[in-house]
Amino acid sequence: MPETVNLPRLHHIAIQTTDLANCTSWYQDFFGCRATWSTDEFSELTRERLPGITRMAEVVVGATRFHLFERISPAPHGAGANATEFQHLCMAVESPAALDAWRRKWTELHRSGRYAFLRADPPSETVVDKDGVESFYCLDVNGLEFEFTYVPAGPR
Ligand SMILES: [Fe+2]
Repeated sequence: MPETVNLPRLHHIAIQTTDLANCTSWYQDFFGCRATWSTDEFSELTRERLPGITRMAEVVVGATRFHLFERISPAPHGAGANATEFQHLCMAVESPAALDAWRRKWTELHRSGRYAFLRADPPSETVVDKDGVESFYCLDVNGLEFEFTYVPAGPR
């Protein structure tokens, strides 16, 4: 008989960057994250898994924790720098107006020139599906894709 285990819950999302200061600033300013803890000491396993890791910082917004990992050598080539990556990460907001506000905020921060973006792509247009679900897509400073979505109240 298989062992009974509790359902897992999401604990954190790890983001790989080549510039921790730039990445931390953007996550704080865009998402409104607060810094909680950081370290430059890693286990042998972590150093084997992530060669070139220098330091990491946790930033938190609401129930979402991001672990920002800086790796400088060998230089990762954009985004997660692995052959296989998560395709995107989706954040839900409470209204179409909030969706527009997040899109405007992304653009304002991008235009401010205060952050180095690995890729220059602007946010996508907002798309609406047949169920009224609205989404747009944007990149973080490392080129990782986020979706922002508004899902109307209903059965899904
Ligand atoms: Fe999605």
